Amino acid sequence: MTIDRFGRRIHYLRISLTDHCNLRCVYCMPEDMTFRPNPELMQDDELLLLVRLFARLGFDKYRLTGGEPTVRPRLVELVRAIKQAPGVRTLTMTTNGVLLPRLAQPLAEAGLDRVNISLDTLDSRKFQRLTRWGKLEDVWQGIQAAEAAGLAPVKINAVIVRGYNEADLVDLARLTLEHDWQVRFIEMMPFAGATDLQLQQAVSAAEIHQRIEAGLGPLQPLNNGKLDGEARVFRLTGALGEIGIIASVTMPFCAACTRARLTADGRLRLCLLREGEVDLLTPLRAGASLDDLRQLILDGVWMKPWGHGLQDGLIPLNRVMSQIGG
Ligand code: 5AD
Ligand code: SF4
Repeated sequence: MTIDRFGRRIHYLRISLTDHCNLRCVYCMPEDMTFRPNPELMQDDELLLLVRLFARLGFDKYRLTGGEPTVRPRLVELVRAIKQAPGVRTLTMTTNGVLLPRLAQPLAEAGLDRVNISLDTLDSRKFQRLTRWGKLEDVWQGIQAAEAAGLAPVKINAVIVRGYNEADLVDLARLTLEHDWQVRFIEMMPFAGATDLQLQQAVSAAEIHQRIEAGLGPLQPLNNGKLDGEARVFRLTGALGEIGIIASVTMPFCAACTRARLTADGRLRLCLLREGEVDLLTPLRAGASLDDLRQLILDGVWMKPWGHGLQDGLIPLNRVMSQIGG
């Protein structure tokens, strides 16, 4: 069992499979983003070795992220192998959904349990403005494909950016009236090379909450108003689905955090919003023993930080979101 010095049990690993992406969302990366060369990323055998090690240490919950995880070669085989590792209980994925029409079924058959799909607006023009390269229709079909493949309940992630989609969050929330989905609204966070957009166009959870209620009526708290993972969850009167609000910036969920991240280049990152990392891939390639790697993981987890420093103006500078894993 892996415990940090604050007594938190860390058993949820988010693995970035690649920093590459087939979209260019304005809150995530510049249009001319450069990516890491493939040899710098964990190869399949390296990734599996590390996953088996984490699983033996008690990590039972896994999420594949990116960049965009579906652009990773041999994804379906990788999912099957990860799901078969002893100790891996749930395996989920966060994706932009574009490639799900063809991948949802094979991924479900390989053992993927659920997906979170990013969708920031239901207006196709605004969708293109936000993602630069995306087509709303592709994502919509991806959502249908995920449902049809049983990757349920589907969760939809929306990052809210003032001047882009703050008016659209009511339409997104309305989806829960007729669909058994969880639509989750996420406060935009600043990362390395933080853009004016990230710093000035964020919309707070409080405002998101208020806009939904103004448009659609009262939000009833679920889970006794307590956090469910990183989200506070609510239901609109008579709705089939749920609404989640994720206040990573204004009300961080650090006390309840059970997660660690493995970056695509094989670094163990203990907090999304803190720069500290433990390099696992370099020692692995240099011939470190499993025991050595195990100790690096345990020591890294032990030193997991508490609380981000955004309120003090501390923005993580070493990586952007697509290089950490969302
Ligand atoms: N703030 C919050 N969420 C972000 N994502 C990407 N960039 C940001 C940001 N600046 C999220 C996307 C997607 C996941 C991969 O990361 O919404 O769901
Ligand atoms: Fe790609 Fe996701 Fe970043 Fe958009 S938010 S550019 S889909 S990694």
